Amino acid sequence: MQTILITGCSSGYGLETARHFHANGWSVIATMRNPSAAPFATSETLRVLALDVTDEDSIAVALELAGPIDVLVNNAGIGLFGALEHSPMQKIRDVYETNTLGTIAMTQAVIPQFRERGAGVIVNVTSSATLASFPLAAAYTGSKTAIQGFTRSLAHELLPHGIAMKLVEPGYGPTTAFAQNTDIRLEDVLPEPYGSYAAPILAAMAEPELSTTEADVAKAVWQAVHDQTGQPHFPAGADALALVA
Ligand SMILES: NC(=O)c1ccc[n+]([C@@H]2O[C@H](COP(=O)([O-])OP(=O)(O)OC[C@H]3O[C@@H](n4cnc5c(N)ncnc54)[C@H](OP(=O)(O)O)[C@@H]3O)[C@@H](O)[C@H]2O)c1
Repeated sequence: MQTILITGCSSGYGLETARHFHANGWSVIATMRNPSAAPFATSETLRVLALDVTDEDSIAVALELAGPIDVLVNNAGIGLFGALEHSPMQKIRDVYETNTLGTIAMTQAVIPQFRERGAGVIVNVTSSATLASFPLAAAYTGSKTAIQGFTRSLAHELLPHGIAMKLVEPGYGPTTAFAQNTDIRLEDVLPEPYGSYAAPILAAMAEPELSTTEADVAKAVWQAVHDQTGQPHFPAGADALALVA
């Protein structure tokens, strides 16, 4: 039985990906910052471990407790929506600490065991914001676009060691906890003149023509992990697929 470790499994895309792999016969290590709030019952093949991707000690302890894994999914992430001019620099740093440096730190930490075994898959969950440019998301887009370049470059040096790097690019998922996982108030980051500019954008986001479900992302991660063709990108969700088309 193969083992997958997924970051950010308390809700949304990570939670559904954990459920999908578990339901399909994998041993799953579902990690989250607060395991006492785990939204599923644990079993021998579904373990929950504490992991904060911004904390090197937390990463080391979680990987020690996890034991050997075959696949790492870097899914943990936070958003930041608003005008850059009014986005607090500390919040921007938090976004890069989690989305960018957290992904890099997790990747660096699992490489030794994958290289020694000559096998492993690392899936980095970025965003459809890397496939097209969206307004009022500059800092967030930068944090995810950095991981696109990071992943593509790293793939070269890890391929000879049997390690595959994959990118899953989800579209807008209004049903996850993503929009709620912030203490930033929209009015604070969208004062005039940005407020008037943002109004039609927010209205369109409230009624998206196409969007992404948790199941779309779980299936894309599954495809990425099982891919034998060398395909590096896996857009997930109707809106992300439309951007690629
Ligand atoms: N929903 C969208 O519209 C959308 C679109 C494109 C890409 N994405 C990306 O998809 C991924 C999953 O997002 P989602 O929509 O499923 O949002 P979500 O429901 O908020 O899930 C994000 C997860 O990341 C975890 N997390 C945040 N900071 C963390 C940290 N420092 N260490 C470990 N875990 C941390 C959260 O856990 P806690 O319980 O600890 O907060 C949560 O489990 C993210 O990388 C996001 O950028 C989302």
